[in-house]
Amino acid sequence: MGSESTKKALVTGGTGGLGTAICRALADMRLDVVANYHPDYVAQAKEWQAKQADEGYSFALFAADVSDLEQCRGMASDIGAIDCLVNNAGITRDSRFQKMLPEHWQAVIDTNLNSAFNVTQPFLDGMIDRGYGRIVNISSLSGQTGNFGQTNYAAAKAGVHGFTMSLSREVASKGITVNSVSPGFIGTEMVRAMPLDVLDKVSAMVPVGRLGEPHEIGRTVAFLCDEQSGYITGADISVNGGLYM
Ligand code: CAA
Repeated sequence: MGSESTKKALVTGGTGGLGTAICRALADMRLDVVANYHPDYVAQAKEWQAKQADEGYSFALFAADVSDLEQCRGMASDIGAIDCLVNNAGITRDSRFQKMLPEHWQAVIDTNLNSAFNVTQPFLDGMIDRGYGRIVNISSLSGQTGNFGQTNYAAAKAGVHGFTMSLSREVASKGITVNSVSPGFIGTEMVRAMPLDVLDKVSAMVPVGRLGEPHEIGRTVAFLCDEQSGYITGADISVNGGLYM
């Protein structure tokens, strides 16, 4: 890192399971990376930053709740120009729809879908002015197939891909690509929090025969963020071990 032409990236939820792998993959591509995290987790984020530094990765941190438009606008004006935006922050609040609490519906839609509006819009004018941008939105297998217990999450993640395709059409002629990545079951804390019997059943159905590794998502995101990936836009790339084709 550190050359004058270094491009800059923001990864929302950058300190999480997939987020960490995405930050590292972008840093490996020599991008300057800012990891966004939720303001409730300042101590954990600082600890994360120190651990990454020990392992040779230097990341800036920025606290903002992606479900809060004003905080996202503040983040964009403080960070300034970025070349790559990875909308990765996400949560689950799984339950059968009959039992789903309205606050669990709302929290997942706010964090996983409304965040695409909140974070992307404040950075977009700058990308358009500079004639360059790479936007990658993390969707999910659940948004492609639906998933028992995930009406909220699947609705948000399917929405993310609709957002991706529509925005990609609006900015394609401005040097900006907008794509989504749909991970299957990756070995992060979020997936390992699933009931063990459900996770065992799902894992047994994956043609590749294992859970995915976070770095396999990082690599895909980095590929889409590469300057040379300018002819890929509006796409959704499945990274699911063949679980859904
Ligand atoms: N298919 C069919 N039936 C199912 C089922 C499934 N996948 N999962 C649960 N059920 C049934 C049970 O057999 C049971 O049926 P009976 O009442 O007839 O015995 C009933 O649902 C139990 O439902 P409850 O409402 O009592 O709920 P529960 O406490 O058992 O929890 C659940 C249900 C929330 C769906 C729970 O099983 C669960 O968390 N499942 C995992 C959901 C999941 O896959 N999450 C993915 C997280 S990872 C992620 O999101 C990353 C990504 O992008 C892919």
